Amino acid sequence: MVKVHFLLEDLLVEAPEGTSLQRIADAAGADITFGCRTGSCGTCRVRITAGLQACSEPGPEERDFLQGLEAPADQRLACQVHIHGDVDIEYLGL
Ligand code: FES
Repeated sequence: MVKVHFLLEDLLVEAPEGTSLQRIADAAGADITFGCRTGSCGTCRVRITAGLQACSEPGPEERDFLQGLEAPADQRLACQVHIHGDVDIEYLGL
């Protein structure tokens, strides 16, 4: 199990390793807005404030989208990233 801490609402949840952040957020009722859920709208953008190394590598769609925003490496799309260790998450939105 991994621990995911949603910082804005101070919500700490556990999930099986490798679960998508979208699934974890939905199950926990975390305050993250999802639009497309395919990595193309950016409404689910988050900052990984701790545990970035525990996140899956971005796929081509996510990488292209975030590069288009000139987003730093600690920003990810919650609908695309899978979690393999303990992380702290700050919701940013688009
Ligand atoms: S919900 Fe659209 S990019 Fe994640």
